[in-house]
Amino acid sequence: MSLDPAGLLGDVLAQPHQLGDALWRAQSAGIPKQDRPGGLIVCGMGGSAIGGDLAAAALGDRATRPITTVRGYALESWTGPDSLVLCASYSGNTEETLACFEAAGAAGAGRVALTTGGQLAELARADGVPVIGVPAGMQPRAAVVYMVVGVLECAAHCGAAPGVHAEIDTAAALLGTLVGEWGPEAADDSTAKALARALHGTLPVIHGAGPTAAVARRWKTQVNENAEAAAFWSELPEADHNEICGWARGRAAGPLSSVFLEDPDQHPRIQRRIELTAAVVERAGAPALRATARGETRLERVLSLVLLGDLVSVYLADLDGVDPGPVEELVRFKNELT
Ligand code: F6R
Repeated sequence: MSLDPAGLLGDVLAQPHQLGDALWRAQSAGIPKQDRPGGLIVCGMGGSAIGGDLAAAALGDRATRPITTVRGYALESWTGPDSLVLCASYSGNTEETLACFEAAGAAGAGRVALTTGGQLAELARADGVPVIGVPAGMQPRAAVVYMVVGVLECAAHCGAAPGVHAEIDTAAALLGTLVGEWGPEAADDSTAKALARALHGTLPVIHGAGPTAAVARRWKTQVNENAEAAAFWSELPEADHNEICGWARGRAAGPLSSVFLEDPDQHPRIQRRIELTAAVVERAGAPALRATARGETRLERVLSLVLLGDLVSVYLADLDGVDPGPVEELVRFKNELT
């Protein structure tokens, strides 16, 4: 990387080690075991919210109660004491998440905070709410592993899903291997570098299905924030009921490209749909790229694609001479709001 003074690439490459640290931090937070039939509600925005979607994707049908993510100022009107509300904010100062923290308290829901500090930590401590500490000094989106593991632990503590500690260990080992295969020391034709070159100068639409839908959203937002480029995400099978109609004229209007994120365990009809949707994209004259999740467990497969997308977005930044760390537009926007 020629331009990365804040070391964002280093934070991505540290994901294998962050997994164990994240688990230790979540276990040290003193979250009581509790029976919450309403399940787990994760409140957050941006890089702090995506952990909710990714954890739910990694648990899949092992979840026994709802695990949902709220991005906004308000909880559903029916939220009450039967739910655990995890408020995730890296900075601890995101107004939407702070509003949900207050709303969860007013609703009598169980609460946990996941943060480096800020107002969220202060409010939580004042109310005796457990805080899972996240290490400071990163960009919020670079702390994705801490967010995912925090959600997984809360899901286990409120009876929404089984604990997955063994899977976290095996995922750490796999990600260590993948950092070697896809990292900056890997060959020029290695997967992440090749994908970044193929996407460079295009407007990517990242497609996911089932467990890879949340990862598609993560890829899109990482391209937005790290490479400061436009990107979109989409979900199969829904895209086959509308979006495919727009590819031919959309491609004529701009340099669209697509990536299909595949899970080796996906439904056979999803496999068929990916083939046919990729053919629609190619007929429109746009590249249809593929990336397949790695690993045995669902957590490994979700995290392998997260790592791949994070690397692709950082390599895209490098190809354009963009510093992947700062998000000046977000900072300017937040300042304008206040
Ligand atoms: C910045 C980033 C953003 C933030 C979002 C919410 O790296 O990823 O999407 O995550 O603006 O801020 P926090 O995470 O501090 O609550």
